[in-house]
Amino acid sequence: MLTSVESERVESFMSGIQGKVVAITGASGGIGEATAILLAERGAHLVLGARRTDRLEMLVERIAKAGGSAIHVRTDVKRRGDLVTLVKAACERFGKARCTRQQCRHRTHFTSRRASRR
Ligand SMILES: NC(=O)c1ccc[n+]([C@@H]2O[C@H](COP(=O)([O-])OP(=O)(O)OC[C@H]3O[C@@H](n4cnc5c(N)ncnc54)[C@H](OP(=O)(O)O)[C@@H]3O)[C@@H](O)[C@H]2O)c1
Repeated sequence: MLTSVESERVESFMSGIQGKVVAITGASGGIGEATAILLAERGAHLVLGARRTDRLEMLVERIAKAGGSAIHVRTDVKRRGDLVTLVKAACERFGKARCTRQQCRHRTHFTSRRASRR
């Protein structure tokens, strides 16, 4: 159950998400997967990361079948290089990555960041 402050932050994050590029780590299950489905329904372009690529592949397929836009990249959040690759994939596929949702065990938070090809 989210607190009122958390709910407010989620609503703020979700509003105006149409066309935005969103990278989600921990997207292979739980809250990350549910967030991916919700954001895809709202028109975001998704870059999905986690270690279980079989689950990510299924999620990308599910989103595509529903008319959404998503790619996946194997990502272990403990490996800096994996995160760099995730952002690079977002830039290469969609030209930019403005919002990053970080999601993994023991830590859940929203951040807004800009990334470019530079
Ligand atoms: N469920 C709730 O109601 C709730 C409420 C508030 C807070 N939380 C917190 O939110 C977090 C996630 O909860 P959840 O229920 O979604 O958990 P979950 O079902 O266990 O999902 C965890 C996700 O994190 C990914 N992950 C774990 N280690 C990773 C790593 N090293 N690199 C990349 N991805 C990694 C997993 O993907 P791979 O294994 O494929 O890498 C999976 O997609 C937890 O810390 C939980 O305490 C949960």
